[in-house]
Amino acid sequence: MDDWKPSSWRSVPASQLPEYPDAAALNAALERLAKLPPLVTSWEVERLRSQLAEAASGRRFLLQGGACAESFDDCRPEVITGKLKILLQMSLVLTYGLKLQIIRVGRFAGQYAKPRTEIHETRNGVSLPAYRGDLINRSGFSEEERRPDPELLLRGYERAALTLNFIRSLVEGGFADLHHPEYWDLDFVQHSPRAREYQRMVESIGDSLRFVETLAGAQAGGVSRVDFFASHEGLHLPYEEAQTRRVPHRAGWYNLSTHMPWIGMRTAVPGEAHVEYFRGIRNPIGVKLGPAMTPALLRELVELLDPGRDPGRLTLIHRFGRERIADALPPLIDAVRASGRTVLWCCDPMHGNTELTGDGVKTRRFDSILSELEQAFEIHEAEGSFLGGVHIELTGDNVTECVGGARGLSELDLGRAYSSRVDPRLNYEQALEMALLVARTTAKRNGREI
Ligand code: PEP
Ligand code: CO
Repeated sequence: MDDWKPSSWRSVPASQLPEYPDAAALNAALERLAKLPPLVTSWEVERLRSQLAEAASGRRFLLQGGACAESFDDCRPEVITGKLKILLQMSLVLTYGLKLQIIRVGRFAGQYAKPRTEIHETRNGVSLPAYRGDLINRSGFSEEERRPDPELLLRGYERAALTLNFIRSLVEGGFADLHHPEYWDLDFVQHSPRAREYQRMVESIGDSLRFVETLAGAQAGGVSRVDFFASHEGLHLPYEEAQTRRVPHRAGWYNLSTHMPWIGMRTAVPGEAHVEYFRGIRNPIGVKLGPAMTPALLRELVELLDPGRDPGRLTLIHRFGRERIADALPPLIDAVRASGRTVLWCCDPMHGNTELTGDGVKTRRFDSILSELEQAFEIHEAEGSFLGGVHIELTGDNVTECVGGARGLSELDLGRAYSSRVDPRLNYEQALEMALLVARTTAKRNGREI
């Protein structure tokens, strides 16, 4: 690729990057980071890319989920297993409804840097730099805490490594074994309004599995060990650059801080730093598409980011909101088709549906999220395309951040267990319910009743 280097982005305009008061301290931290071992390997990255290529041609489905912003405090076993459990349960339900293998990609082990629309936050007349995620500054409201601190880059790298290490051990050790879905039960699973429906699916899958194994006289391949991949928004380009490496026996450069970085909506701008950095790495990449994306811009983006037309390279994650998707999506599907590419289309039904309550609390309505997702399936089908993935902000905890769902959470509940520092997430029950409803409507669309 021409004269691209991991640092090429430095010579074009950049947005959403923090300004560090001490450049020498930043460079020292980046030098240390560049010498540390990679967090993922190119083999894993290539395996994900080939699975995404299958999803782009309708043979798998992508489930990408996790917190809006991971916090360093969340690097705890119960938070990590909670996230794995809900992703496993959702993927089981989606497999059942969609009759497709699910690719599980967490928004974890590095989702520590956030873009901000407002670069300052004002409280009681005091204005300070906005909190930009634990990788950059601290959430407390003082000048000291909001100052970007380069040491946090190393703390973030370490926590990402600890998180991945624990996830790999759990998965290797049999935690994700389809023969034992009871490993993934969360304490409150039996109290969920949808618990029976879920249990029924689990039993039915167990029956099918035993049936196949009896016929084959062996354990069904691939069910005792599943893959989990990591992803995060590739926002903090100095951090990403420090972990961008060449590997033996393969061409090009890999970002080895995660399997699948994505470009956020605010930085998906041709000619700017994030697109410049992403165009040169070999990883499969995601691109968020919001209401400001035009067909012409998208054409330009896909040509820049996927010059080789590599299957699995591009996942386009659209996030318009329930009111806008019907108008916004079809022209973009046409634009990609006109470019002659096969991309993986994924719906993020969260970010276009954020609202503020009367008290100024950020929330999202379960019904709006579900509506955007169901519309996405239908629009793709009507356009002769198909939706191959879903991108969700969720947690395995019993938080109260989004309203609605079977338990009928209302705005009054938001004060009870709201712990997200950035966007509201579906809690465990709401996330599972979303998967159940999507599974059911997809099965129905395909003439099956579940
Ligand atoms: C996010 O995924 O948390 C996010 C900020 O999304 P977007 O770039 O789509 O606004
Ligand atoms: Co978010």
